[in-house]
Amino acid sequence: MQMTSMYKLDDDQILPLSLEHTFWTWSAQGKVNPIPVQRAQGVYFWDIHGKRYLDFNSMTMCVNIGHGDERVIQAICEQARALPYAGPSMATRPRAMLGRLLSEITPGDLNKFLFTLGGADANENAIKLARARTGRHKILSRYRSYHGATAGAMALTGDPRRVAWEPNLMPGVVHFLDPLRYRSTFHRTNPEISDEDFSLDYLNHLEEIIQYEGPETIAAVLLETVTGTNGIIIPPPGYLQGVRSLCDRYQILLIADEVMSGFGRTGKWFAVDHWNVTPDLMTMAKGLTSAYAPLGAVAMREDMAEFFNQRVFQSGLTYTAHPISLAAAIANIQVMQSDQLVERAANLGPVLHRMMVDLGEKHPSIGEVRSIGLFGAIELVRNRKTREPLAPFNHSSPEMDAFKKFMLERGVFLYTHWHTVLIIPPLIITQEQLAEGFEVLDQALEITDRAVSS
Ligand SMILES: Cc1ncc(COP(=O)(O)O)c(C=O)c1O
Repeated sequence: MQMTSMYKLDDDQILPLSLEHTFWTWSAQGKVNPIPVQRAQGVYFWDIHGKRYLDFNSMTMCVNIGHGDERVIQAICEQARALPYAGPSMATRPRAMLGRLLSEITPGDLNKFLFTLGGADANENAIKLARARTGRHKILSRYRSYHGATAGAMALTGDPRRVAWEPNLMPGVVHFLDPLRYRSTFHRTNPEISDEDFSLDYLNHLEEIIQYEGPETIAAVLLETVTGTNGIIIPPPGYLQGVRSLCDRYQILLIADEVMSGFGRTGKWFAVDHWNVTPDLMTMAKGLTSAYAPLGAVAMREDMAEFFNQRVFQSGLTYTAHPISLAAAIANIQVMQSDQLVERAANLGPVLHRMMVDLGEKHPSIGEVRSIGLFGAIELVRNRKTREPLAPFNHSSPEMDAFKKFMLERGVFLYTHWHTVLIIPPLIITQEQLAEGFEVLDQALEITDRAVSS
């Protein structure tokens, strides 16, 4: 009998059928306009009409090693043939290998790993672990943050994506402010404050909240080490170490969400490595497999793991430690190691930063640029002096819409968050490819420059 491919479908049916029968996240169903993607290779992907896009967002900030790497595809195929699935209670070869491999690249004694399906449930599990370990229930997280879209992770999220589902989210989360100098409420009148004092002000703010909430009620402080979608907020000197000390002082656990900032994105394996801080729990996803298969993980310190030696950890999912995802992660990490992609991101970091600074000098609609490794943000403003954002809080604007449209028409795929443009390319990008994207950015910014008032 002749086998027919189960994927047989004409290209021109991809878009209409997807629209007719599938539901889209983060969207009004009647307003979506998806790109019908056909294939992807390196830093590019192509639609069904053969149009090429330069991927300046690593798809969903996750394809760190670039698209179509045969080594990872091969590992997935081999695992699918050998053992596509085993229950979460079973020991498998990829489970044995990935746990050890991760313990070699994570900081300090983060030596044990709980596998999840993605970033949101990694954070959910980190919260469960922290609450069980401390016997306390409150979690402090920051306003300019995103931690995932499940009910608990939504509650942890500080940005307005949380608000749509309130009040029916996980209780017990208290938010605090982020040390973002450019938009600091506390420093409008003394913007020249030293980094040390600036950090101290935000640490005092956090400590005040800890005291008001009652330290004995707080299980953990959770933060994105370097904030992602909310604008690449890089901890000022002393801040992260200060948060670590506050947590130690009040016996509160520190959870670093490295879902976006991990796996070479900032030029180190994990962003915490820049400040030599070891969190008690660290969550990861995205770059863990470079999205070749869905996977998240919670890294925990040895004493946390030991706490559960005689106690049951009451949680788990059918696809926990899915062998195909674990095999993808192993191959992905091996690719990062053999191609030295973390070093590459570190080396390209200053190149990207220079390009962003140069754009900033040329375009009056750029208020500030921030980057670390290949993790960059450009804040667009109507007025450099007042710093009025080019789109209102939690909205877009005609100028931002026109900017995005221009970029996409010219074949550069990137992500914008209100008035902020993110630049998060695969770590394999070359200087020439970065320049290719920046040439289009340079042209698109003429649109936003026209919105600037003096
Ligand atoms: C920092 C951070 N944490 C958590 C998540 C949630 O990850 P996922 O979408 O895999 O659930 C994301 C996703 O963008 C993220 O950026």
